[in-house]
Amino acid sequence: MKTLITFAYLVAAIFFIYGIKKLSLVRTARIGNAYSAAGMLIAVVVTLVDIGKVDYTFILAGLIVGSAIGLYTAMKVEMTAMPQMVAVFNGFGGGASALVSLSVFWKYVVDVSATGVAADILGANTAVTMALGILIGAVTFTGSFVAFAKLQGLIPGKPILFPGRHLLNLLLLLAGIAAGVYFAFMAPAPGISTLAFLALFVLSLALGVFLVTPIGGADMPVVISLLNSYSGIAASMAGFVIGNNLLIISGALVGASGLILTNIMCKAMNRSLVNVLFGGFGAEAEKDSGGGSSEYKNVKDYGPEEAFLMFDAAQTIVIVPGYGLAVAQAQHEIKELASILQKQGKDVKYGIHPVAGRMPGHMNVLLAEANVPYELLYDMESINPEFQNTDLVLVVGANDVVNPAAQDRKGSPIYGMPILEVFKAQSVLVVKRSLSPGFAGIKNELFENDNTFMLFGDAKKVLKELISEAKSVSV
Ligand code: TAP
Repeated sequence: MKTLITFAYLVAAIFFIYGIKKLSLVRTARIGNAYSAAGMLIAVVVTLVDIGKVDYTFILAGLIVGSAIGLYTAMKVEMTAMPQMVAVFNGFGGGASALVSLSVFWKYVVDVSATGVAADILGANTAVTMALGILIGAVTFTGSFVAFAKLQGLIPGKPILFPGRHLLNLLLLLAGIAAGVYFAFMAPAPGISTLAFLALFVLSLALGVFLVTPIGGADMPVVISLLNSYSGIAASMAGFVIGNNLLIISGALVGASGLILTNIMCKAMNRSLVNVLFGGFGAEAEKDSGGGSSEYKNVKDYGPEEAFLMFDAAQTIVIVPGYGLAVAQAQHEIKELASILQKQGKDVKYGIHPVAGRMPGHMNVLLAEANVPYELLYDMESINPEFQNTDLVLVVGANDVVNPAAQDRKGSPIYGMPILEVFKAQSVLVVKRSLSPGFAGIKNELFENDNTFMLFGDAKKVLKELISEAKSVSV
């Protein structure tokens, strides 16, 4: 029986790994999700069989209530609110792992009034992983909920910087580690052990709050990805505590993939993780930091009719979507405009920057929602060489990802970030509401170029106007 269970766990782990692999491409992401869900079903059923005598009343009740909440939130959540939903999931994951440690501690130490240090009662490995599970799980729990509150606008999104915050966090971490070591190896009686355990729990909860509070709301997707990694590590620790191999494996998978994603995002923004976590990016966004004077000269303001003449004259068109497209929820309009232009015989492609928007794959998900064919989406490496042969680039709600300051302004916060080189095209038409900066808070000299034309307004409204112009030409 034990061999069969181990084999089933191995199969579930293969499903998880294969599912994650499939998730790396938009085209195969749905099937990847299904593979991972199948792996989880195998894991849950096998674990219940392995445990043997289980009370299905609680399991069934949890299943019904949990599924109902999950279904309701998944159907209600806006695409732009996806990062905060992931934050909540991570928070609950970390919290659940911490509770596993807490319940095992209660069952084997407090309930039976065991005497001696935890390492002797539970074994040194279990005691240490238990303490780590509490530390990482509780940090993930509160850190994720602060991230959620920032993105949901419940607390200010700007970095809240207070003097001595690094020292405070260091002290909290050291005190937490000291409480953990005391709990595992020194506390002689359940009463003292419980106090040390609770101190570790409270210190970790506080650490989660103070670590995330100073980070700006717009940096939250990177933080959430990191917290996702933490939630995986906490789950792995819970796996060690209860001796479940599959939990160890799946937790490690989440931990590693979260870390890889964090790294990809930092690289694509040309920021180090240290800068994201401790830099307080965005706190001084109003100051013009390295993008030149924020006064604009030579800006050419077009109306929809004049703008449409540019489409009429162009044969090769590249659409560059950005965060503003998501804010305006104009994905269906952009698809409709592109379809009309294609019917007129024009070559239309989409250029996708890896950090356009506010979450990984934001533009891909947004455009997939409007059923834009995957084959039309080009990543930065493949579209950049094409701009010099492109007649017209339509930039919709993108700013930083097309800002030439990343290439030629040393000292700019985005200097060194790879960008979509739209300025190389014959003409560039930029749709946004004003000359306000994007996430990095800096001027964009693209808007002053001779071949750039601005079409001011909400993306949805402007695209609708362009569509009616295009339709009037098609008739
Ligand atoms: P941004 O540089 O943030 O610029 C978005 C632009 O959209 C703004 O300048 C805004 O200008 C415009 N906009 C907002 N609402 C609009 C609407 N309703 N209609 C039309 N335009 C609208 O966006 P981006 O170019 O996509 O770059 C993303 C930035 O976010 C990068 O700096 C990146 O490093 C950062 N970031 C990305 C991620 C991930 S994982 N994607 C995570 C954290 C941070 P107006 O106000 O003038 O309209």
